[in-house]
Amino acid sequence: MCGICCSVSFAVEHANRDLRADLLYNLKQRGPSSSKQLLKCDANYQCLFSGHTLHLRGAVTAQPLEDEGGNVFLWNGEVFNGLKVETQDNDTRIVFNCLSSCTNESDILSLISKVQGPWSFIYYQASSHSLWFGRDFFGRRSLLWHFNNLSESFCLSSVGTQTSGVVTQWQEVPVSGIFRIDLHSTATSKCVILKLYPWNSNSGEKVIQECVGSLTQISANLPKFVSVEASEAKLYLENPIVPLNMILPQGPFETHCTDISRGPPTRETLQVCLNTHMREVVQQFIDVLSISVKRRVLCLPRDESLTPDEALGTRGRKANIAILFSGGIDSMVIATLADRHIPLDEPIDLLNVAFMTTEKARPARFNPKKSKKKNHCEFAFEECSPNPAAMADDNPDTRFNVPDRVTGRAGLKELQAINPSRIWNFVEINVSLEELQKLRRARICQLIQPLDTVLDDSIGCAVWFASRGIGYVAAADKVKSYQSDAKVILTGIGADEQLAGYSRHRVCFQKHGFEGLNKEIEMELGRISSRNLGRDDRVIGDHGKEARFPFLDENVVSFLNSLPIWEKANLTLPRGIGEKLLLRLAAMQLGLTASALLPKRAMQFGSRIAKMEKNNEKASDKCGRLQGVSLENLSIEKR
Ligand SMILES: *[C@@H]1O[C@H](CO)[C@@H](O)[C@H](O)[C@H]1NC(C)=O
Ligand SMILES: *[C@@H]1O[C@H](CO)[C@@H](O)[C@H](O)[C@H]1NC(C)=O
Ligand SMILES: *[C@@H]1O[C@H](CO)[C@@H](O)[C@H](O)[C@H]1NC(C)=O
Ligand SMILES: *[C@@H]1O[C@H](CO)[C@@H](O)[C@H](O)[C@H]1NC(C)=O
Ligand SMILES: *[C@@H]1O[C@H](CO)[C@@H](O)[C@H](O)[C@H]1NC(C)=O
Repeated sequence: MCGICCSVSFAVEHANRDLRADLLYNLKQRGPSSSKQLLKCDANYQCLFSGHTLHLRGAVTAQPLEDEGGNVFLWNGEVFNGLKVETQDNDTRIVFNCLSSCTNESDILSLISKVQGPWSFIYYQASSHSLWFGRDFFGRRSLLWHFNNLSESFCLSSVGTQTSGVVTQWQEVPVSGIFRIDLHSTATSKCVILKLYPWNSNSGEKVIQECVGSLTQISANLPKFVSVEASEAKLYLENPIVPLNMILPQGPFETHCTDISRGPPTRETLQVCLNTHMREVVQQFIDVLSISVKRRVLCLPRDESLTPDEALGTRGRKANIAILFSGGIDSMVIATLADRHIPLDEPIDLLNVAFMTTEKARPARFNPKKSKKKNHCEFAFEECSPNPAAMADDNPDTRFNVPDRVTGRAGLKELQAINPSRIWNFVEINVSLEELQKLRRARICQLIQPLDTVLDDSIGCAVWFASRGIGYVAAADKVKSYQSDAKVILTGIGADEQLAGYSRHRVCFQKHGFEGLNKEIEMELGRISSRNLGRDDRVIGDHGKEARFPFLDENVVSFLNSLPIWEKANLTLPRGIGEKLLLRLAAMQLGLTASALLPKRAMQFGSRIAKMEKNNEKASDKCGRLQGVSLENLSIEKR
């Protein structure tokens, strides 16, 4: 992960020679390996480029890069496929070389279309006085913009700053396509025109329609002096994934769960679904997901990682890969596949976060029936875990024994059974209310913004603490404090959206059948950038670490999009089986046992963060705890 930023000013008297200190600090957190600034001056405009690199592969390549033609490039991404990048190469330089050799717009678009992997970039094309920028199709990397008409300037940045009291706010750059700003004409007209080159998701009429739709949407959120324009005809980016298969089953089908009274889901119920055809589909899924995980665990500078850690007895190796780990099926499948590709003598860190539960909240877990009756929250049934391991736990210190800790420990046992010779560092990250409040104020709130709901607060904070990786590991009968230094963090995000894992999918299916479910899934994948990915990227990047999303690999999404919905989920089957059916079948084939049958539990409930503070909020409410933090009482603490 890197921190990239470009601040452009048109009024020479306001020209910035440096970035604001708080912005610079936030960017440096993301790219601790090297920092560099570059000023480009023209008669009409001035661009300050600021690049902060997290070194991951090839030789350290300080950003921004500049070539002899005066072009400048900032890259926050990974080329996993599409362009050839050898292990010893730096993908930043390769993409820049390709860009520099582009002579027209369509060249640039076909180059960007080829790159597979997460990215956001800023490219200054000297010959046309243009600034190109954008985010990948899913928005796996953050990029924000901030327009300021007072000082006649604008700024693009991976991460923003606290801006309370200021009229114009940071906003996420939409993922509808990539943008170009002509700096010369902006300077003379005093109006910023954002030219959008959209993804070509369909052919003909529909593209134009969609393009107009996204233009209207984008413009609505911008200040008056900024407008969005479509590029000239036929200048599109090529959609990197195949469209969602919306086919409906022939003949009548059931939309209500028939099996609910038969008790907890069993392996046998799952086994029944594994006919010859499904066996084949499951194998194809495992293959494509395995390649995705492989790409994400092998693109690393492994040779440098020989720092012995006798204390933990890790045989002189440190973990290069960590996994956000709840013990749920998504993280278990990723861990199992990661184990296939990571060198055997290298430990894997499993990051498991728990927020201290209050006396009042705790008994709920041990008595699901009671909590069901008491809790009128719409998510109530996401919470009660039928997992038998929850009852078997006999640790006297139960304050942090939240549901995800319990399933995490059970998951650890399964992984140890699958590969006993691997060192699995189960990192128990215990967070107290006091620590949560302190760090939310000091750091996390400015990373979450411009997102601002209660749900963003809960998940943003939980992911921040989990990815920081400071906790405890039990080794040789002793509990030791532990800090995960793995620069790459795998997360299971994207599985629920594509495989109908949320309870809302069941509700939707019961109301609107397969057609409704297809539409819901299409919509959710379309909004995952603005709902989750930008936020998670900013939060994880703050530790100088990089999030990677195996379920959002282009080939994985294309494969899942090509399947009819009923091969991915069968919501007439009970919870713990029907949702994410395909993933459960894959888990079973991979040798996983109990975790293959765990129902979905949202992170905010599993980690118990949602129980820490106010209990009566709705997830979609604006979160007061993220607001009203003024710059004066913001004391940034260095770790
Ligand atoms: C990667 O960057 C380093 C340092 O900037 C440079 O020496 C090296 O040639 C680059 N590699 C490639 C393949 O461009
Ligand atoms: C763009 O430039 C390439 C050569 O780099 C050329 O082959 C192509 O025809 C040009 N396209 C347009 C639309 O001008
Ligand atoms: C800046 O924009 C605001 C609102 O869009 C407007 O009220 C104000 O007059 C503008 N200021 C200048 C200097 O253009
Ligand atoms: C962290 O929480 C676990 C319970 O899940 C507990 O066993 C452990 O003692 C706690 N560690 C510390 C240092 O509080
Ligand atoms: C869903 O599962 C049930 C029970 O196994 C089965 O009867 C039904 O055909 C499945 N539905 C679809 C669409 O495959």
